Amino acid sequence: MAAFTTRSAAFLGLAVVLCVLAGAARAQQLSPNFYSTSCPNLAPIVRLGMTSAVQTERRMGASILRLFFHDCFVNGCDGSILLDDTSTFIGEKNAGPNANSARGFEVIDAIKTQVEAACRATVSCADILALAARDGVNLLGGPNWSVPLGRKDSRTASQSAASANLPGPGSSLATLITMFGNKNLSPRDMTALSGAHTIGRSQCQFFRNRIYNETNINASFATLRQGTCPRSGGNTNLAPFDVQTADGFDNAYYQNLVGQRGLLHSDQELFNGGSQNALVQQYSNSPSQFSADFVTAMLKMGGLLPSSGTQTEVRLNCRRPN
Ligand code: HEM
Repeated sequence: MAAFTTRSAAFLGLAVVLCVLAGAARAQQLSPNFYSTSCPNLAPIVRLGMTSAVQTERRMGASILRLFFHDCFVNGCDGSILLDDTSTFIGEKNAGPNANSARGFEVIDAIKTQVEAACRATVSCADILALAARDGVNLLGGPNWSVPLGRKDSRTASQSAASANLPGPGSSLATLITMFGNKNLSPRDMTALSGAHTIGRSQCQFFRNRIYNETNINASFATLRQGTCPRSGGNTNLAPFDVQTADGFDNAYYQNLVGQRGLLHSDQELFNGGSQNALVQQYSNSPSQFSADFVTAMLKMGGLLPSSGTQTEVRLNCRRPN
């Protein structure tokens, strides 16, 4: 009897440990079919939400894509960027690279409401963001791809991790290669992912120095941008990244770089006589090569997960831990 009790207790202990582990992130296998029985209409619900958001404002496709990048680069794709600050942590929204810049949170909230109505407490905010980013790209004319799913949401967020992991607009090529390398993304992945800057807008404060002080810039492009980005003031004035097709997801970003019409210093670093010159030239001539490499790199970036042992959950409200 005593032996039985001891063995039962040991078994119970093991069961408790396993249950605790189940709540923590493991080296998890993502799959496009993850919700095929638990939430079969997930993809159309997200698509509808993004279609309506992009119809209202085309830029939103870009803003959501950027949110996904900023989510995945900070402790993996875990919806951490979506968390508001709480009494116990300052989140990522107010970190330097995101404050007064990251946008589109209410679009994710609206989609989450629809997803919860169809499949309660089933689909993570991180997966909704991954699908919404894909749809944003595709709705603006970019490629479509199947998104592996099964991510979980973080219970916390870190302002300092966001500041440390996200590259700034003044970054050199070496810094960009290192920061993407820290996420196991190759220089080729980095150059392909940067093609996201074929859509969306930047605030004047992030490209002012480039248009007034740099020499590897097309003179008429600099003059054009100076028209809405004065030497002082107007910090938040917006300009499109892509001078050719502002809201079209295409390879014009690379053609711009070849013509020294990159908007940010970091953009032009990819075509400034360094290791990525040949690849930029290739993408500028081949939309299909860019498209294929962009999808490959998005899948790699989307596969970044929180380190094992991190507590995770499926959040009911993307702005708050449960
Ligand atoms: C390579 C390093 C990168 C740097 C230094 C960088 C920096 C920036 C900056 C400064 C802005 C303007 C923000 C503002 O004005 O508020 C921006 C916007 C944007 N970024 Fe990046 N970015 C990088 C890579 C990426 C990647 C990898 C993606 C996605 C795959 C991405 C997607 C976007 C998009 C779509 C926008 C426009 C957002 C909007 O219009 O709301 N960026 N980025």
